[in-house]
Amino acid sequence: NWTTADFIKHTVADIRAQVGKGRVLLALSGGVDSSVAAALLHKAIGRQLVCVYVDTGLMRKDETANIEKLYAKHFKIDLRVVDASSIFLRRLKGVTDPEQKRKIIGNTFIEIFEKKARELKTREHIEFLGQGTIYPDVIESVAIGNNPAALIKSHHNVGGLPERMKFKLVEPLRQLFKDEVRRVGEKLGLPREVVWRQPFPGPGLGIRVIGEITKPRLDVLREADAILLEEMMAAGLYYKIWQSFCVYLPVKSVGVIGDERNYADIIALRLVESIDAMTADWADLPRELLQKVSNRITNEVRGVSRVVLDISSKPPATIEWE
Ligand code: XMP
Repeated sequence: NWTTADFIKHTVADIRAQVGKGRVLLALSGGVDSSVAAALLHKAIGRQLVCVYVDTGLMRKDETANIEKLYAKHFKIDLRVVDASSIFLRRLKGVTDPEQKRKIIGNTFIEIFEKKARELKTREHIEFLGQGTIYPDVIESVAIGNNPAALIKSHHNVGGLPERMKFKLVEPLRQLFKDEVRRVGEKLGLPREVVWRQPFPGPGLGIRVIGEITKPRLDVLREADAILLEEMMAAGLYYKIWQSFCVYLPVKSVGVIGDERNYADIIALRLVESIDAMTADWADLPRELLQKVSNRITNEVRGVSRVVLDISSKPPATIEWE
């Protein structure tokens, strides 16, 4: 007999009772869970909520601007954007190993968020830390003890920080499953692009630029990825498949533009259907859509000579390339 309206009403009352006149700090990533947590906390305590968004430089096109538009301008949330892109890029220079990339990105994220949290705790006396922990995370973290693989995905979950910095935790989504989180998000007025967005990995585009991550490569990938997203939306297919994204391959191939030889890198399209990401099939999308995406990327994005389609299933391939 669970209804979203009842849940929101009770949770808002609980948050107010717990927090009183205190203030809550929340790491907003733009993912479904932290977005819904932000909207719910904001409904309960308004400007007593402070959201911190770390721009890693590994986000998709316009992502930071869209976050500011939605949370700061539309919801009027007190949002602090930390531009850390140069730090991330510096630390990733020359790194090509995928697990090494994940480690660097995860550790740098925690370090930067912790520094900001320390500053806000001291200067603005914030004593609560909000987290978008949902029920499956609670189960997973219990299982982490004998499942080190679970740690890989946990970098946005700033474990350890609350105890280390003596924050009191506020976790309003702790008892919800993903579909319930989405329903709450819709009820709170979050847009469809946020509530129903496809999964996006914590390390972001860092694991979608194969090999070394550089600013020019990220920029090319962002442009290609934005074209794919736009065409998936226009075709009404974005919400119908599990994930659709581009991968940047630092492999030179020859093309022609006009009568100029174009010796440039390759973009791979990864389009998959899945229920839970444990297994996945490559999605057989209409030829017209693929053709349009390919034409647009090779014509509109400088630095790409060729677009290829990944037709591997999981297993044995994984969804991401790294
Ligand atoms: P794979 O590539 O293992 O991906 O088939 C399964 C799902 O997990 C996502 N993924 C990640 N998510 N941090 C994350 O938060 C990561 O390091 C990571 N690697 C993969 C992937 O997008 C897919 O949905």
